[in-house]
Amino acid sequence: MGNSGKIWTVRLKWGMTEGMNSAEMQKLTGVKADEPKGVLPVEQGPWGHVFLGDCREIAGELPLKSLDLVYLDPPFFTNREHKGNGKVKMGKLREARNALGFDDRWVVREGKVGYLRWLEERIRAIRSLLTPTGVFLLHLDWHVVHYAKVLCDGIFGEERFQNELIWYYQTGGASKDRFSRKHDTILLYSNGETFPFNGKAIAIPRTAKAMERAKCPTGARIKATNTHKNPDDVLVIPALNPMANERTGYPTQKPVELLERLIKALTPEQGTVGDFCCGSGTTLVAAQRLGRRWVGCDVNPAAVELARWRVKKS
Ligand SMILES: C[S@@+](CC[C@H](N)C(=O)[O-])C[C@H]1O[C@@H](n2cnc3c(N)ncnc32)[C@H](O)[C@@H]1O
Repeated sequence: MGNSGKIWTVRLKWGMTEGMNSAEMQKLTGVKADEPKGVLPVEQGPWGHVFLGDCREIAGELPLKSLDLVYLDPPFFTNREHKGNGKVKMGKLREARNALGFDDRWVVREGKVGYLRWLEERIRAIRSLLTPTGVFLLHLDWHVVHYAKVLCDGIFGEERFQNELIWYYQTGGASKDRFSRKHDTILLYSNGETFPFNGKAIAIPRTAKAMERAKCPTGARIKATNTHKNPDDVLVIPALNPMANERTGYPTQKPVELLERLIKALTPEQGTVGDFCCGSGTTLVAAQRLGRRWVGCDVNPAAVELARWRVKKS
């Protein structure tokens, strides 16, 4: 798939590949394959579609400068194979349960160096899709987030690094050998100098104690009417428990609440959201619920099918 090619290849069904000509693709997405990229009005974007393929290639096919927010939750360099839990909720698609999961082993793929090269190529392709005020979120954990920070500084520029968000999920077992690992890190980069931040949309209610203090005429720093505070960079949201209703069985599935908070704070009401390692489709579900236009992709056919099923159901 090249930017100038007239044939789009999109795998539409789980386990099947369908080549589409440009007329068919245009009907599906509103995007003309032979139209110069980057000049498409945003209304004609490929909104509401989950594409199957490598995110670098899919990104190369989408309209430039069309996304207000990209959330990327790639493999974390765990050097493990992540498998579904066999209790996949997928309506008619239960037969796909064994295919749910992804390979995050890099030993035969040049290890960390290979991983970082893989990530860099994909982030560079994805960056070109951001609007001038767009925001890029990279979700990782302790395995490689520090290398990825240096990588992203090189791609976006150090001055475009805006936040290191901590998702503190609290749950899971405790370690006896070291401090228990209870957080992931989300790096926030702005594409341009400025980016929209609507802290009010996810303002945190002040504690009863703080509100009590506010009543005190001497020494009160906040007004009694000021019941909420701007969010800080630690997002305290429990990880999905095994019985959670929204749990699909896809490994590493993130809670919708996490994505809802990020989307509310970082996109305008009519905004556009992309997730290029969408897995079970959490970001897409959150974007849809919030009335944002969205596009998703994943390299795993079963993930694509699951994500499509989820957004349809939501
Ligand atoms: C950490 S999981 C994402 C989980 C997702 N956020 C959710 O809530 O379900 C990483 C995903 O990246 C996908 N992936 C791996 N390599 C990819 C590639 N080259 N292009 C697109 N997706 C890829 C995997 O198939 C997997 O679904």
